[in-house]
Amino acid sequence: MEEFQEEESELKEDEDCSLASDSGVPVFKLLQKWVPKAAHYFDKEHYHYAGHQITIQESIENYGAVVWPGALALCQYLESNQQEINLKDKRVLEIGAGTGLVSIVASILGAYVIATDLPEVLDNLEFNLSKNTRNLNVRKPEVRKLVWGKNLNEDFPKSTHCYDFIVATDVVYHHTALDALLATMTYLCQPGTVLLWANKFRFSTDYKFLDRVCSIFNITQLADFPESNVKLFIGTIREN
Ligand SMILES: C[S@@+](CC[C@H](N)C(=O)[O-])C[C@H]1O[C@@H](n2cnc3c(N)ncnc32)[C@H](O)[C@@H]1O
Repeated sequence: MEEFQEEESELKEDEDCSLASDSGVPVFKLLQKWVPKAAHYFDKEHYHYAGHQITIQESIENYGAVVWPGALALCQYLESNQQEINLKDKRVLEIGAGTGLVSIVASILGAYVIATDLPEVLDNLEFNLSKNTRNLNVRKPEVRKLVWGKNLNEDFPKSTHCYDFIVATDVVYHHTALDALLATMTYLCQPGTVLLWANKFRFSTDYKFLDRVCSIFNITQLADFPESNVKLFIGTIREN
């Protein structure tokens, strides 16, 4: 995995955020530091969301084994905007769940969660979900394989697999699966399903992907995290 060069931001707990940008989109600072790890294979990171300490086991074996900044942004937003984005008793499916931080926070906030990712990520994902929810009075999140664009009709038939929210954080980065990713978002979002997508914008191709998303979904930007270049979007599928 590439090494990342990002400076730790010196953020204090009470600096929670929200200034309006010129465009009117609320601007936030990430309250949890994103510190990429490349020096050791396994590490445990501690987070605090929705009144709970969350411990995440990370590794550098694959992209899904560290917490990415989009996950921190979405967790922070969900924690701070529980009335606007009410996850209680909602069916939430996360794609590219990685370490599972977002799925854990969604579970704590009352959702029925299915966390999905590539097969090689699922053991660590299962470990983190189980470790962080087993002693809480929350619904046990489910872990399932979902490879973008593969076997969706068979594994997630629309007639029985309908979700209130599809969540995705930092699923857009330098990879070749963007067509399959967009097809998966489109497939999973039935009328009424809300897409929550937070992503660090790094490359011009990220903005091109955003344009493609906007052609299929009615998209609104919910928040901007300029220090980490993360943008958070909410959307629903366009109905023709
Ligand atoms: C950059 S990581 C983000 C992980 C996590 N969402 C976060 O924000 O911390 C991208 C995630 O997408 C998953 N992913 C990449 N390609 C995929 C594919 N073709 N099908 C399913 N998941 C994929 C990776 O395994 C990884 O967990």
